[in-house]
Amino acid sequence: MAEVIIVDSAEAAGRLVSDHIAEQVQIAPELVLGVATGSTPVPVYRALAQRQARGVDFSRAFAFALDEYVGLPDGHPESYRAVIDRELTQPLGFDPTRVNVPDGRVEGIETTGERYEAALLASGGVDLQLLGIGTTGHIGFNEPGSSFGSFTRVKTLTEQTRADNARFFGSLDEVPIHCVTQGLGTILRARHLMLLAFGEGKAKAIAAAVEGPVTASLPGSAIQLHAHVTVVVDEAAASRLKHSDYYRWAQANKPAWQGL
Ligand code: F6R
Repeated sequence: MAEVIIVDSAEAAGRLVSDHIAEQVQIAPELVLGVATGSTPVPVYRALAQRQARGVDFSRAFAFALDEYVGLPDGHPESYRAVIDRELTQPLGFDPTRVNVPDGRVEGIETTGERYEAALLASGGVDLQLLGIGTTGHIGFNEPGSSFGSFTRVKTLTEQTRADNARFFGSLDEVPIHCVTQGLGTILRARHLMLLAFGEGKAKAIAAAVEGPVTASLPGSAIQLHAHVTVVVDEAAASRLKHSDYYRWAQANKPAWQGL
């Protein structure tokens, strides 16, 4: 099962996860980091930027984004290519040629999934995958019903996800209907999954993903099939977990050698 770590705040999660990533990139400078967008990973990227300023070097590391909107104009500030550039590539000093985001241009969209899978395979695979979770239970943009065997492909966003993400756009109408996302099968190939969630709005999805039945109706529950998963949540996102007392007990008694 997953290791569940309950922290006081998103900032505390940012420090914890960034410590781990910084340690990993110092051990393996060519680390392949799987990155999420949206608001959840922002505290991690901010904390990593501070570490970069103190000398942690990301210039030889690789990054692969989980997903991208289809059909936004080149350079649109809310395209995940632009978000990754702004939040990760520039502040952390990644080499832009080592940062990969699925190609969301309409032209050639039929082969975009295959091309992304080929790039992932050529990289040797993701070492550490950061994940957020949507209120629909999606990870990446794998909405309910996504196959556990799926690879990178075009998906249709649910109306719920479009409404949730409208806060990044001028209006709901501007939120694309389609996206390209790594599949659940793609995500499950990463060597270590780290799922983060903050706030009461995520409590239901987290409880279902961590403790609910494994079902395509709640795509985040796919994490239960992976051998190495760390879930980092604040108190509010943890509030519906049935076994939270046990998770706290396990953390309090965790052997120091185990690490994350
Ligand atoms: C983003 C992604 C999504 C988000 C999820 C939560 O790359 O893959 O699964 O992680 O929609 O979004 P936030 O963090 O904005 O609540």
